[in-house]
Amino acid sequence: MDQIIVTGNGELRGEIPIAGAKNACLTLMPATLLSEEPLTLTNAPRLSDIKTMTQLLQSLGAEVTTMQDGQVLAMSSHDLTSHVADYDIVRKMRASNLVLGPMLARLGHAVVSLPGGCAIGARPMDLHIHGLEALGAEIELKDGYLHAKAPGGLKGATVEFSFASVGATENVLMAATLAKGTTVLKNAAREPEIVDLAACLREMGAQIDGDGTSTITIQGVDRLSGATHPVVTDRIELGTYMLAPAIAGGEVECLGGKLDLVRSFVEKLDEAGIEVTETDRGLKVCRKNGRVKAVNVTTAPFPGFPTDLQAQMMALLCTAQGTSVLEEKIFENRFMHAPELVRMGARIEVHGGTATVHGVERLKGAPVMATDLRASVSLILAGLAAEGETVVSRVYHLDRGYEHVVRKLEGVGAKIERVREK
Ligand code: UD1
Repeated sequence: MDQIIVTGNGELRGEIPIAGAKNACLTLMPATLLSEEPLTLTNAPRLSDIKTMTQLLQSLGAEVTTMQDGQVLAMSSHDLTSHVADYDIVRKMRASNLVLGPMLARLGHAVVSLPGGCAIGARPMDLHIHGLEALGAEIELKDGYLHAKAPGGLKGATVEFSFASVGATENVLMAATLAKGTTVLKNAAREPEIVDLAACLREMGAQIDGDGTSTITIQGVDRLSGATHPVVTDRIELGTYMLAPAIAGGEVECLGGKLDLVRSFVEKLDEAGIEVTETDRGLKVCRKNGRVKAVNVTTAPFPGFPTDLQAQMMALLCTAQGTSVLEEKIFENRFMHAPELVRMGARIEVHGGTATVHGVERLKGAPVMATDLRASVSLILAGLAAEGETVVSRVYHLDRGYEHVVRKLEGVGAKIERVREK
């Protein structure tokens, strides 16, 4: 297994290109199952999660061809040969459940393994199930698999989510594109990845209105055609690299970044004393003189502060002046990075969904363990300004969501290398 070694090395300067969004790509890929015609995605990120989704689609009979070093995914679901999403693939990645809605809509039946427990909380699928049942699906749980069928086809309905779940909104939205009649999704998630999915589905001929708001209306059509669609910028990768100069000092321009993707995050950076400017190429981030100020952060569905940036923000606040309180409202067990940051000299107390961070002058490098995707990158960020060497192990978590992390950070002057574990 590989390790990443980071040595605090002063200010960072230069540019970091931001990739296409993992979470958008993971919902755009299953959209291929809705149509007999080819769907091509450009600006795809090069990540192990994308390979897992590729394997899953291929196991269903879809063709997926990777071009331009992985940035273009040409997919065709002309001949589907299976309707079973196997546990062996689904257990690797929860987003595998996004094949359920499309398969059900296209084939009238689908069998999808439940993803199982996940390190950051229970993450059940009840909202996906209720939404699809409202469209007329019959869903049963047998031997760890959801067996779904819609013998008479799906029918439009009003679905009100009790929580604005991203995955449930995506699954039901995709299914509704081929349902008979009108579907209205209330309390739908408003994340940019949903807007990107709706844009792609519209390019395929779907009739969708209201994406980006909490009420989405879908007028079902008989069939969808092919399309070529560029994946939206990854706002989480963007926010992560914006924190690099915020933590280490200096000035970095994140190419492809847009304020609209990260407004609530930028508000918190501003409070902390970090300057962000929108340029014609992206977002420029600069650490003003002096120490970062403590800020309080509460995670919330979009447009609120993203849970996927909470760990990285905590890395910044470890060396802030004063005490910050971080409240995690989306996942119940998402502070696993805190004890690792404490190994680096941070002062953090965790009580339930609240972490209190008392800022210290400087962190010290230490051997630490990546526990999940965002936690792993928070340790690398913390290492950028720590004294001495931080050795992050279990970096396979990182490969799920960050392409070329070493190259991107080296490009702005960080001292970072990836080595085989001794
Ligand atoms: C997506 C993102 C993930 C992000 C999360 C919240 C992808 C591939 N992943 O995950 O990176 O952290 O949104 O922004 O896009 N819930 C239920 N029942 C359900 C579904 C969800 O109770 O049927 C709960 C979950 O346990 C969790 C909360 O709702 O506490 C948020 O989950 P959801 O918005 O569905 O996240 P995902 O789509 O899994």
